[in-house]
Amino acid sequence: MQHVQIAGVDLAVEIQGGGRPVIFVHGFPLDHTMWYAQIAEFSRDFQVLAPDLRGFGASGATPGVVTMERFADDLAELSHCLGITSQGLVVCGLSMGGYIAFQFLRKYAGLLRALVLCDTRAAADTDQVRENRYRLANAVRQEGPDVVIRQMLPKLVSEKTRQEHPDSITHLEDMMRRASPEGIAAAALGMAERPDSSALLPAVPCPTLVLVGEHDTLSPPTEMQAMAKNIPGARFEVIPDAGHMTPMEKPQEFNTILRDFLQSLESPTR
Ligand code: MLT
Repeated sequence: MQHVQIAGVDLAVEIQGGGRPVIFVHGFPLDHTMWYAQIAEFSRDFQVLAPDLRGFGASGATPGVVTMERFADDLAELSHCLGITSQGLVVCGLSMGGYIAFQFLRKYAGLLRALVLCDTRAAADTDQVRENRYRLANAVRQEGPDVVIRQMLPKLVSEKTRQEHPDSITHLEDMMRRASPEGIAAAALGMAERPDSSALLPAVPCPTLVLVGEHDTLSPPTEMQAMAKNIPGARFEVIPDAGHMTPMEKPQEFNTILRDFLQSLESPTR
């Protein structure tokens, strides 16, 4: 892993391979290791960037609120440090990583070659979800990651994954334990503040792939399909038997779809 100093924080970033840069943006409250299967597969043909966002994994944390815009600024600065220029970058975000991708689109569309939105949503939080986030932020600051593990772990993977791949549950729990309590709280508050991105959808200027697990209850396929319909030319895929963590639960299926999409970007007609 490399360490890059960005806007007052030490960011740990896995950087592997060469070619078109593809940045993988993890969900809440996880880290870059959720993308292991994608890093191994895509670093053969692409420059894979998989950061631990501030507050997570091996990166430093900043207190208070970390907005989705701040995370997107970190990714833009990282791209800048690596010399990535106009319309070269593919941003692939899962869930909170998708909220960050929308903020990246808002501010840095000129850097984007394509977007991949996994198990995420364009809408802002409801009042009730926002209230839960405030409670969670307070509780995590007092009790540490156990509280978020109790709340989130049962919702992340499908029943089939839980039974057939109990190792994925251990991996998810390990990631949550590595996150800093302050980082978890700051990102939860940042998600609560995020703007609604639905109005951006009809104006997405780049090729877009929308992927969701068949049994995702946090960002259900019906909602993701409606989102995809509003993005011009977007490709929509449902991955059978997966829950919210499609790239971890069904890595081969996920990678086949993503590879096909990435290859299509190099065709002269796109
Ligand atoms: C995630 O997986 O990043 C979370 O489910 C996002 C959220 O809490 O809205």
